[in-house]
Amino acid sequence: MKEETIYEGMIRSGVSRRDFLKTSALVAASLGMQGLKPPGAIDRSGFVEQSEGVSALVTNALQSKPRVPVIWLEMQGCTGCSEALTRSSSPSLKDLVLNDISVEYHETLSAASGERLEANKRAVMEKYRGKYLLVVEGSVPVADDGVHCVIGGRTALDLLREAAEGAAAIVCTGNCASFGGIPHASPNPTKAEAVWRIVTDKPVVNVPGCPAIPEAFTGVLASFLVFGKLPELDSLKRPRLFYENTIHDRCLRRAFYDAGKFASSFDDEAARKGYCLYKLGCKGPTTYNSCATIKWDSGLSFPVQSGHPCLGCSQPDFWDGGGFYQGQSAPLDKPGAVAIGAAAAAGAALGLGLAAGNRAKKKRIRKGDSKD
Ligand code: SF4
Ligand code: SF4
Ligand code: F3S
Repeated sequence: MKEETIYEGMIRSGVSRRDFLKTSALVAASLGMQGLKPPGAIDRSGFVEQSEGVSALVTNALQSKPRVPVIWLEMQGCTGCSEALTRSSSPSLKDLVLNDISVEYHETLSAASGERLEANKRAVMEKYRGKYLLVVEGSVPVADDGVHCVIGGRTALDLLREAAEGAAAIVCTGNCASFGGIPHASPNPTKAEAVWRIVTDKPVVNVPGCPAIPEAFTGVLASFLVFGKLPELDSLKRPRLFYENTIHDRCLRRAFYDAGKFASSFDDEAARKGYCLYKLGCKGPTTYNSCATIKWDSGLSFPVQSGHPCLGCSQPDFWDGGGFYQGQSAPLDKPGAVAIGAAAAAGAALGLGLAAGNRAKKKRIRKGDSKD
């Protein structure tokens, strides 16, 4: 029997055609973040109008494809990545979960639990073999045959291998699943490992962060939904668009960095003026993530904007690579005196541009510019 398409399922459950098109536009917006835009449509702030072509592509896909079954495993993690996702927008978790994907197994979000839930997982893995998407949250301990994380009497290592075997692709959400995260930090007594170090024969995408930026995660799901494959990745298996720039590249405090103006404590005059947080341990210059542009809580803010240095939570070796408040005495480079005024002006303009772009977020999607 032919499987029900996403569109048919939505209409059957009472969703109007208008709401279907709204969901379609949200998914298209997410794909717009992935560079699927006609060249030449870029405006001065670096944003583009959503291409009608992308919207049509998404609408067609949702009308012709069945929902994507998802099995979500939680390993050595704190559930923070799931928690963050419930606050996602463009598209929201609600839109994705209820309409476009079908989360068949999630220890925290599934209504069922225990043997009933486990039985459902087994049935889904068999029925959708080679088609389902496996999402992993948390790292996998490999010491002592994996006994340090046991779920339902089986090790996380065993459960990962079993679920990975029939998966079409694996999406690792958060630093723990992508790079080992905090459980991987020294002395790493459980030998916590990243998923791609264990599963080497499946397509894997890493969406690091602690937690992952929800819009980056849902953007990856949207790409899989529409094209049936993962977006373009870098050498660390991160989706390029969301991870090709550092926090520092797009930071609204960048003008102060370039001008040599730094806060030396969290409550000094320089901090109150919004100066650069480098001397307070900011890892923005070496951290690749989209926090400075997509931001958090529907574009409200991100750590550096709110007065806290970037901790490098999306980088490999977070936490060992630098945790809280490890001060740095001097910036990575010192711009010449002549450049300072111009850099400050350019930085301020960039900040204004980003703020304006953020306000227009619902209509326009930021282009993934290459590095400065
Ligand atoms: Fe929690 Fe951070 Fe690990 Fe996500 S990456 S599970 S938020 S510790
Ligand atoms: Fe760079 Fe951090 Fe300073 Fe922002 S606060 S300019 S990311 S060093
Ligand atoms: Fe993490 Fe730095 Fe963003 S700490 S949330 S990558 S600003």
